[in-house]
Amino acid sequence: MSHHHHFPPLEMLQDGPMVSGRDLPAAGGAMAGHDPAVSTAANYRRFAGRETIGRAPAYGVLAAAVAADEQILTFLSALPVAKRQPNLLFAAARHLLGTPTDIHALRDLVRGRADELAAVIRARRTQTNEAARCATLLPALVGLPEPLALLEVGAAAGLTLLVDRYSYDYAGHYLPGADPQAPTLTCQPRGPVPLPERLPTVSWRAGIDLNPLDAADPNDARWLECLLWPGEGDREARLQGALEAARRHPPPVHRGDLVDDLVRVAASAPPDATLVVYHSAVLAYVDTDKRRAFAAAVGDLDAVWLSNEAPGVVPLSTATATYPRADSFNLIRNGCDLLAFTDPHGTWIDWVS
Ligand SMILES: C[S@@+](CC[C@H](N)C(=O)[O-])C[C@H]1O[C@@H](n2cnc3c(N)ncnc32)[C@H](O)[C@@H]1O
Repeated sequence: MSHHHHFPPLEMLQDGPMVSGRDLPAAGGAMAGHDPAVSTAANYRRFAGRETIGRAPAYGVLAAAVAADEQILTFLSALPVAKRQPNLLFAAARHLLGTPTDIHALRDLVRGRADELAAVIRARRTQTNEAARCATLLPALVGLPEPLALLEVGAAAGLTLLVDRYSYDYAGHYLPGADPQAPTLTCQPRGPVPLPERLPTVSWRAGIDLNPLDAADPNDARWLECLLWPGEGDREARLQGALEAARRHPPPVHRGDLVDDLVRVAASAPPDATLVVYHSAVLAYVDTDKRRAFAAAVGDLDAVWLSNEAPGVVPLSTATATYPRADSFNLIRNGCDLLAFTDPHGTWIDWVS
């Protein structure tokens, strides 16, 4: 394979471009879900006003109520900064309650079971694993020489490593997957999305995660459930179906760091395959130095690099990275080609390149 190249310099990567001023300030520089430059209340208001609109109104209402609740804010202020995000608090509450929380149940938890709640928050991390993101990755794989070797960093339980096992429905363009029992991922294509006629052959796959989750472990599976937002329709069923698919064909996810362990894991990919290194909703969780180090490390590999992250996480010029929908991700190849805007949960892809 001779698609070896160095990616454009990431010196341009400053502390997070303000993509649209008011709506997307946290994406570039701040850690996902919590921008330490503003108060915890402001972070919860931002979550209520941005991420949950049209998706999970109940969590929007909840986040807004947390932003106005002194007792819960005080509870959060005793946690490390990286542990104060809405996703983690709400999932931990759901873990204890057995059902998604509302503000009343959350107040009761903070009053009566603060130690238990803090323990879950400290023990767990935001590892939401959304199989449907495979539907926004697949068009970027079209045309690559097969077989493919897939290396996903931040793979969680490896559900987004099973690209060839799911079936797909792009507005009637149907692609049967290798595992007929695995979920069918429905994705609305917009623009000239390159849709394949069949799924690519995958000869090798591996994930890297700081904390690999095991689909066969009931506690891990349950935590993934707790991370879902209420009112998002088919996500729950899709998660169960994807977990079952992962139990039938366990995707190998290695414990490690996306920079420190990249070269080691990539070295076991078969040399005759096209190595594709990819990630979604991962680089936002590491600081800008680590993002830069990752871009350099992946640039040194003989690999295609696909990044599906919030705008600004992998920097492009503001003009190309802006999309009317505030929460859309940017699908970027090799650090420089903006291929598409994508729904963070994989339900649509808007091809631009
Ligand atoms: C929100 S999940 C996304 C999972 C998957 N990529 C998807 O799209 O469904 C982010 C994952 O990145 C992992 N992660 C965060 N920082 C990491 C690092 N420095 N090295 C490896 N994995 C990391 C977390 O443990 C978590 O499992």
